[in-house]
Amino acid sequence: MAENLAGLKRTHMCGEVTGSDVGHEVVVMGWVQKRRELGRLIFVDLRDRTGLLQIVFKSELDSELHNKALQLRNEYVIAVRGVLQVREDINPNMKTGEWEVIARELRILSRAETPPIHIEDIVDTSEATRLRYRFLDLRRPAMQKNLMLRHKVAKIARDYFDEQGFLEIETPVLIKSTPEGARDYLVPSRVFPGRFFALPQSPQLFKQILMVSGFDRYMQIAKCFRDEDLRADRQPEFTQIDLEMSFVDVPDVLTVCEGFIKRVFGEVLGVDVQIPFQRMTYAEAMERFGSDKPDTRFGFELTDVTEIVKNSGFKVFADAVERGGSVRAINAKGCGAKFSRKEIDALTEVTRTYGAKGMAWIAVEDGNLRSSFTKFLTEDEINRILDKVQAEPGDLVCFVADANEIVFEALGHLRLEIARKLDLLDENKYNFLWVTEFPLFEYDSEEERWVAIHHPFTSPMDEDIPLLETDPGKVRSKSYDIVLNGVELGGGSIRIHDQELQRKLFKLIGLSDQEAQERFGFLLEAFRYGTPPHGGLAFGLDRLVMLMVKCESLRDVIAFPKVQNSSCLMTGAPDFVDEKQLKELHIQTVDAENEK
Ligand code: AMO
Ligand code: AMP
Repeated sequence: MAENLAGLKRTHMCGEVTGSDVGHEVVVMGWVQKRRELGRLIFVDLRDRTGLLQIVFKSELDSELHNKALQLRNEYVIAVRGVLQVREDINPNMKTGEWEVIARELRILSRAETPPIHIEDIVDTSEATRLRYRFLDLRRPAMQKNLMLRHKVAKIARDYFDEQGFLEIETPVLIKSTPEGARDYLVPSRVFPGRFFALPQSPQLFKQILMVSGFDRYMQIAKCFRDEDLRADRQPEFTQIDLEMSFVDVPDVLTVCEGFIKRVFGEVLGVDVQIPFQRMTYAEAMERFGSDKPDTRFGFELTDVTEIVKNSGFKVFADAVERGGSVRAINAKGCGAKFSRKEIDALTEVTRTYGAKGMAWIAVEDGNLRSSFTKFLTEDEINRILDKVQAEPGDLVCFVADANEIVFEALGHLRLEIARKLDLLDENKYNFLWVTEFPLFEYDSEEERWVAIHHPFTSPMDEDIPLLETDPGKVRSKSYDIVLNGVELGGGSIRIHDQELQRKLFKLIGLSDQEAQERFGFLLEAFRYGTPPHGGLAFGLDRLVMLMVKCESLRDVIAFPKVQNSSCLMTGAPDFVDEKQLKELHIQTVDAENEK
């Protein structure tokens, strides 16, 4: 039978005993990590969330106690009373490796079956098994450390924004569906047959209304839900550190956010982040890095060689330019000498994955060129290219010719691939960057209309407002993303607070007055009663923590994450529900079998 705690009170966490406790009685509780026997001694490593502590049971001291300790198995939950003493064989790899507890009393609080996965940090278990047994996986010190760090980040967020005059205000989770961007998760209404709530993709509309209501500065650690295709850096439910401010313009928002990042990296990691961060317009980011979230830890910037090759004899290049595209290059310094033909072909494959039809290249050797295409160019064209990309012997110059979007996409990823191959992604370097002035719209050729890139409440840049009438694709917005080492950490914008302008914008994205009313009527109505200029941003908390703990997947920083197909392996959600529940909700399902 399991014993209880009657009369016993924990005095220390395992990892928190210190030299000053030596000679004193301590009571510790936790899980058995390991039991070893050495003659008449039994050693137990006891684990709690703070670490491990060695317990010793000596038969010469108490043979009954020693016998009881022989029952202990991995993951049993026990309480031990004993005296802390200095260890003979100090273990420098263990935080408490200088001490051990000589046990005087042992209580077995709970027995455990043999766990299906090892509670150790070096895991050879598949992720599916880890997630199936998440309650055990979460016992691993690495997972505990990640979640403890996450707690700290959230706490600092609350403290920092509080000090800056922000109020944390909760916004609802059952809301009206206002689809924009991702797909909504829907919740059927019992009271109103056929009607649905949506789960929020973000608190966007509510935080803007809070500004109209005069709260001036709002923040919230908010759960968001998006029914999107998952990737390592996307979960269907995730958490934002969401904020909104009144009477501000772009620099005010950026400055407050920089202060937060500096604080959180300083306090949690001891890393001194330099502020202000580098700021770069979207146009510059694309032009130089082929990406709106460039990793600036390394170079390999793009060079536009369109002008040089547009009339060349290499049809691939000339045709791409003729069709309105461009030809751009990356000089992979030193890689010409390093990379084999096979490796260059592998790089070509990378560009193909991102839509390019191929990759042309020149490997510069001493007084000689190896290349897939220079035979089609004149000496002068070749020299001008090499000059423009500042090629030196040993370099590999890679070219993609196509429509601009494809050239950027392909070379943007090629840059990353080359950096990965050369091991240039220094994980101890934190390169923060603001990318600003995103285009307001992009053209959706399927729907044959302009769509808002951020959301339809994002303000255009003042000087671009006239372009709304003439050239919507050229309108830049007062939007910004915060990027860390090539990952989008957060994004936001200054919002439109002028009704006339808002109406114009809706019209441009094909929303009639009536449709706008139906979808966002409550917000538009609120705007009629006195709206301060306002703007804000949302950080992805999960992504921030993921980068701080140097993990590659959000699943390592979320206690109970979903897998690729948005299901939960531990609980089995989503699952079928009772007929009765469905009936109450006025829902009839199409037989899943028939759906196939
Ligand atoms: P946005 O859609 O850019 O902006 O989201 C802000 C940040 O949230 C994180 N994020 C995600 N994290 C994990 N899984 C996901 N599926 C996911 N989707 C987004 C990213 C992203 O940068 N309301 C606006 C903000 C504003 O304008 O103030 C918004 O939600 O880190
Ligand atoms: P081809 O004329 O198809 O044999 O291609 C000659 C070289 O140009 C090969 O190295 C191709 O990979 C490369 N190439 C093909 N299409 C493109 C493109 N759109 N941009 C850059 N290089 C390309």
